[in-house]
Amino acid sequence: MGQAAQKISKVDQKKLLDVLNTAFAEEWLAYYQYWIGAQVAVGPMRAKIAEEFMEHANEELKHAKWICDRIIQLGGTPVLNPNQFETIAQCQYAAPTLAYVMNLLEQNLTAERCAVGRYQQICDMCFGKDYETFRISSKILKEELEHEQEIADFQEDIRLGTELGKQLQK
Ligand SMILES: [Fe+2]
Ligand SMILES: [Fe+2]
Repeated sequence: MGQAAQKISKVDQKKLLDVLNTAFAEEWLAYYQYWIGAQVAVGPMRAKIAEEFMEHANEELKHAKWICDRIIQLGGTPVLNPNQFETIAQCQYAAPTLAYVMNLLEQNLTAERCAVGRYQQICDMCFGKDYETFRISSKILKEELEHEQEIADFQEDIRLGTELGKQLQK
């Protein structure tokens, strides 16, 4: 716990710690969604997509660590039991029951858009009031926006490939 950290944060501490724990739980679910997706993915560009999913998974885990450190610094307790992840998270976990890459990409795109909203919310909450949480959240926000873009680019490439294939068959 950092006494100075709590003293200088001008955001309602209970609300801030609640939303940080929500983000923390969501990062773990995002980590697992990417990790398991990378293992089971089938379809076009499977190897490339699995590689990208693993990169994203590692970044989500890094985000979880940054958020965890900040929760502890502010005197809070990070979620201690993983069985609480799904109840605390507001971004839904999507199991890759249909392992076709386009389905996985769509599920992860939804998760990324939810994460973007979460860090936008934390940035709004902390802007001008809690510089350190703002700094961490805006750093994560930047990476979530990159993730969203990379997922959308894969979808676009696969769509273009499918269309081109159809035209060549005519
Ligand atoms: Fe993340
Ligand atoms: Fe992400």
